[in-house]
Formats: sequence, C-alpha cells, structure tokens
Amino acid sequence: MRAVVWHGKRDVRVDTVPDPVIQDPNDAIVRITTTNLCGSDLHLYEVLGPFMNVGDIIGHEPMGIVEAVGANITTIKPGDRVSVPFQMSCGHCHMCHEGLTTQCETTQVRSQNSGAALFGYSSLYGSVPGAQAEYLRVPQAQHTTVRLPEGPPDDRYAYLSDVLPTAWQAVAYAGVPDGGTVVVLGLGPIGDMSCRIAAHKGYRVIGVDLVPDRLARAAQRGIETIDLSQHESDLGDAIREMTNGRGPDSVIDAVGMEAHGSPGAGVAHTAVALLPDAVASRLMKTSGIDKLAAVNSAIDIVRRGGTISLSGVYGGSADPLNMLVMFDKQIQLRMGQANVLKWVPEIMPLLTDEDPLGVDSFATHRLSLEEAPEAYKKFQKKQDGVFKVCFKPSALAA
Ligand SMILES: NC(=O)c1ccc[n+]([C@@H]2O[C@H](COP(=O)([O-])OP(=O)(O)OC[C@H]3O[C@@H](n4cnc5c(N)ncnc54)[C@H](O)[C@@H]3O)[C@@H](O)[C@H]2O)c1
Ligand SMILES: [Zn+2]
Ligand SMILES: [Zn+2]
Repeated sequence: MRAVVWHGKRDVRVDTVPDPVIQDPNDAIVRITTTNLCGSDLHLYEVLGPFMNVGDIIGHEPMGIVEAVGANITTIKPGDRVSVPFQMSCGHCHMCHEGLTTQCETTQVRSQNSGAALFGYSSLYGSVPGAQAEYLRVPQAQHTTVRLPEGPPDDRYAYLSDVLPTAWQAVAYAGVPDGGTVVVLGLGPIGDMSCRIAAHKGYRVIGVDLVPDRLARAAQRGIETIDLSQHESDLGDAIREMTNGRGPDSVIDAVGMEAHGSPGAGVAHTAVALLPDAVASRLMKTSGIDKLAAVNSAIDIVRRGGTISLSGVYGGSADPLNMLVMFDKQIQLRMGQANVLKWVPEIMPLLTDEDPLGVDSFATHRLSLEEAPEAYKKFQKKQDGVFKVCFKPSALAA
C-alpha cells in the first residue's frame, strides 16, 4: 500500500510499504477513505524528530470501511463505516470505565511512561503504524472504532477521530460559567473548532492568532478576533480592556509547544536537532524544550480564579512556569490529549444536515496521499490558505 512515511526533520515521503494484516484476535483492518493532516503531525515533522524512526508511518485522524476483523471482534464487521479515534483503548480497564481512554491501562506505553498508545505518534506513544495510508491495522478494535451512519459524505464525520473531541474537551475543561467569556489562543483547526463549539454553547468567544486568513476565517463565523502581531507586548491588556478590566473566565491554549514568540526555546529546538537521536531524546525528556509563549499569555490573560485549558501539546519536563502568578491568581489548570470516546455521544447529535459546527465545509484541501509532502510543507508555513487537509487514499474514497 501507499503510506506517508517519516524520513527525517521536515522530510516526509509517500512510500510503498507492506499492507497491514491481522496480528491479534482483537485487531481490525480498515480501508481508509479519509485521513487528515493535524497540527500534532507538525511536532513530529519538527521538534519530536528524536523520537521518530525512519520508516514510521504518520497519521492519526482516519475514517474508512472495515476490511477484516480478528476472531474476537463482534462489534464491527467487514463493510461497516467507522471512525478510528487517535488513541487505542480497550473498553474494559479502570481508566476506560472512567472515560479516560487516553490513559487506557491495556495500551499504556509503560516503557516510555506514556499514556495510551497513539496511531503514528513516535516511540513516545508506542511506534504504532499511523493512518495516512491506504489501510490501517486497528488494535483493540472492539473499542477503538466508532460506527458511523451510511449516507452523508466523509466530511461530516472526518473530525470525529480528533478535531471535534479535542475541541470539545478543550471547551469542557475550560469550565466557562454560563454567559461567561473564553479566549482561544491559536486559530488552527483545533482553536477554530473550539471557538465554534464555545459559541454554540452561548459563551462570548475571543480568538487570537497572527495568520491573517485564520483570523478572517474565525471572524466570518462571528468570533471576535485579535491579531497577535498587533499586540506582541500588550495582549493581556488588550483583552482586559475588552472584558471589564478583569480578564476572561477561561482561556484555551490551542497552540502548544511550537508557539510563535519564544526566542529562547527556538535556540534549544535547533540545538536538540543537531544531536544524535539517543542523546537528543534523553535531553528532551529531562529539559524544558517547549516554547511557552502561549501558556504564558494564558496565565497573564485569564481572570483571577479563572481556568486555563491546554489542548496544545507540550513535551518538556523542566519547563519554567510562573508559579508565583499562577498561585496568586488562583488559576485552575486542566490539560491532556482528548479522551475521544468520552465526547462522541455529545458531538454526534450535532453532525446533522443543519451542520451547526460547519464540519461539511471545514476542510480547505482534499488531496491524494501522493500530495502529502507538499501539504506538510505548506501547512507548516501556513501558506496558500492551507488550513485543514483531508487526504483521500482510497481510489473508491467517498
Ligand atoms: N490535546 C489533544 O488531544 C490534541 C489533539 C490535536 C491537536 N492538539 C494540539 O493542538 C495544537 C493546535 O493544533 P492545530 O491542528 O490547530 O495546529 P496549528 O499549528 O494549525 O495551529 C496553531 C495556531 O496557533 C497560532 N499561534 C502560534 N503561536 C501563537 C501564540 N503565541 N498565540 C496565539 N496563537 C499562536 C499559529 O499561527 C496557528 O494558527 C497543537 O499543539 C496540536 O498538537 C492536541
Ligand atoms: Zn490530530
Ligand atoms: Zn482500557
């Protein structure tokens, strides 16, 4: 089959690799009809390189048609249309029962001290072959699939694997009070969808980014926006001015570890990239490697007693945070990868013909898998309006 394969920093290629096969009675094989490019893939493309191996298949936002199932699988059968959550979970452990599928005790990557295994997401998360490919082997398929209705086009369900539950959790964890205000930092796919969900829930939403077409996209849906490039030094003040001098109840960080505006950490990223992988991965696990501009703005912006919800991914273990301000302001902080299956029942009723969240027109590019290397480049540089890319690996794709 054809698949998007990691070859090095900023070097992904489409290679021919062996088709996946059932290896365990709990596996399924899914023929992928739509599989998206995500901001999380950009971390692998750049900063998380030391945790990647040449030949790793990337991708974690798939949907498709079940091709084959292992002997234990009774919940889905060949021919079923499914979405595949980006994390693998068993459905029968303590964490799964708590709705914390990102911490599944069956798939946890204990050798790395990581939570549940993720598709296509480096050795930190189990080096499981990813989903930007024609076929995907789905371990723990009894729980790692969501059955989808037939009929509507793939666009309707393409974001159930990641974007929708991630944004839903970001808003839920933000704990916005009724009639409250939330600031969303970053208007990539996750931030944009978080704005839509927060607005749908009736909150006042203020979105911040520095890419003109991303600001315009949010504004078109009635979101108030602030251009960070106009407020590099006074973002907190500008937002306090809009919110009675007090600041918003909640802030969502939808930026993560590669934030614009963190010059010091940029040097560290470059230095790490020059080291041999074994040394670099050890160093990254023990040092502060994140660019903290977004989380630092969140700490400044949020009102006293307010809540910060981090959905942007962070990876360093010695990041300096301003504990004085966090403690004094009595800030509440929630974070983590999205527990996809926990939120699916709340999201599904919104995926209707009325399309209140605008999923049918969310993608800006629908490309063949062969176009992936170019798409990664443009998505990273935020060029040519590349915002959300859906790859269509299968010739029969919907
Ligand atoms: N928690 C989860 O389960 C989960 C799931 C998916 C993605 N993510 C993470 O969410 C983040 C966003 O993903 P995405 O697909 O939207 O990526 P993206 O890279 O397209 O979006 C990030 C946006 O942040 C903007 N930005 C950069 N620095 C900023 C700053 N200092 N202040 C405000 N905006 C700034 C960028 O211009 C960009 O538009 C990534 O870190 C990704 O890894 C987390
Ligand atoms: Zn993703
Ligand atoms: Zn489990």
